[in-house]
Formats: sequence, structure tokens, C-alpha cells
Amino acid sequence: MSSSEAVCWSGGERARRYDREVNRRFYRTALARLLAGAPNLHGRGLDLGCGTGFSTEVLVAEQSGVVWQGVDGSAAMLEIARRKPGLGQIDFREARAEALPFADASFDVVVASFSWHWFSEGTGLEVRRVLRPHGWLLASVPVRHLSPARGNRILARELLTMRHRFVPRTSQGFRIADVPHLLPPPVRVAQHQLFVEYERFADGRELLDVLDSRGALAAIFGAEPPTAIVAPAPVDFEWPFAVLHAQI
Ligand SMILES: C[S@@+](CC[C@H](N)C(=O)[O-])C[C@H]1O[C@@H](n2cnc3c(N)ncnc32)[C@H](O)[C@@H]1O
Repeated sequence: MSSSEAVCWSGGERARRYDREVNRRFYRTALARLLAGAPNLHGRGLDLGCGTGFSTEVLVAEQSGVVWQGVDGSAAMLEIARRKPGLGQIDFREARAEALPFADASFDVVVASFSWHWFSEGTGLEVRRVLRPHGWLLASVPVRHLSPARGNRILARELLTMRHRFVPRTSQGFRIADVPHLLPPPVRVAQHQLFVEYERFADGRELLDVLDSRGALAAIFGAEPPTAIVAPAPVDFEWPFAVLHAQI
């Protein structure tokens, strides 16, 4: 199985749907939260699960003391990233986070912005392998957190209606208490914080469309996401996520 087949929500046409302005805004804001209070970075850096390069663009602009590379399991996502102005010099590789094509101790920092929840168990060991001694993992992951926003309540109700065939998955988000343990010990946790990003959509259709384009519907519901929801306009939605700065 190739990487692209394995990472199916972000393959083919889905990559083009992902690469839209509302998502660019969201992922850039999320990455700004991840980089706030980050240690002084230098050396070689890996944007792990770089997608179409929203996160890579910010890293290149704001952490220019680091030589960045990008990895993603989706060839279609990478094809778009490679064409972006400003990312022409970046070495992007198609690979899975669980089996990185790099020697031990290759990187001073690995950034995983909204990608770790897709990785399999055991990725922590692989990331630790490619990090140099005292290297950093900067990760932001969605967390399971009840939100009072209308869109969240409607989707929670949808989940309840399918509870008889509900399958728990990491892609649905982490427990906040598990986030400091993404890497196997010993690890020094410098930051572990919860953030909530707020968005407003015109109606239920737009909410489902945007969530679907981010892979969030597949992440939460698996193969049978809702195709329509009844929601008075506008629809508020909250994204609770945890930020981790961990040093090995
Ligand atoms: C929500 S996107 C985030 C992309 C990017 N960091 C950004 O800020 O836009 C998650 C990415 O992780 C990638 N991904 C999912 N599972 C993966 C895996 N096992 N190995 C490598 N990449 C993976 C997907 O292809 C997708 O591009």
C-alpha cells in the first residue's frame, strides 16, 4: 500500500478541497498558537503532516533560522505544496509518520500541526528516533472537550444517534491528559496548554462542507458522516486543541 492510499481522506480531489482560504486562515492561526512561546529554534526542522503547506509557509517565514523539510502521506497534498510560491526550495517527501525516511538524530525540531491525531500508535518512537538529543517536538492536537457552541452540540447529537455503531478512534481527538505523552519518556514538557479556536459558519451546510474539507468529518464519524444537519443560521463552532512543547 502506498502512503497516499493509506492516508485516504487527504488523497486526490480531497487535497484540492482542503487547500481553500477558510482552511488556510484556520491552520495559520492554529500554528501561531503553537509557535507562541516556542523555544529558540535552529538547525534542521521537519513539518510532519505538512499537507498543502499552510504550516510550512508560516514556519519558513517565522522560523527562518531553521532549514525546513516537509513530510506528508498524501501525494496529492504534496503536489499542491510544491507548487506554492515561497516553498519551491523546500524538500517535501511523501512518507508516513510511522516510517520516516531519515537517519536517526536528523532533526532539531519536529512540528506536527493538526496531524498527530491521524498517526498510528508508535509514531512517538519514530519521531524520537529522528530527533537529535535535546531536540523539540512542537505539536497541536484536537482534544475531546464538550463545547456549548451550536455546531458542536448538533454534531454531538449526531454522534449519539449512531452510538450503536460508534468506533472510538484517535482521530476523534486526544484526552488532554494524554497529550504530554506523545513521545515516549524521558521528555521535558515545557508547555502543555488548551486553546479553543472559534469559527462562525453561514449555515449547517457550510459547516459540514468546511469540516469535511479538513478531514474532520472523517476523523469524528469515520465512513458514515452526516450529509445534512438542521441548524438555525448562523452556526458557531469551536475547535478545542492542545499545544505541546516537549524536549527529549
Ligand atoms: C489536517 S492536515 C494538517 C496539514 C498541515 N499541518 C497544515 O497546517 O495545514 C493533516 C495532514 O496529515 C497527513 N497525514 C495523515 N496521516 C498521516 C501519516 N500517517 N503520515 C503522514 N502524514 C499523514 C494528511 O495527509 C494531511 O495532509
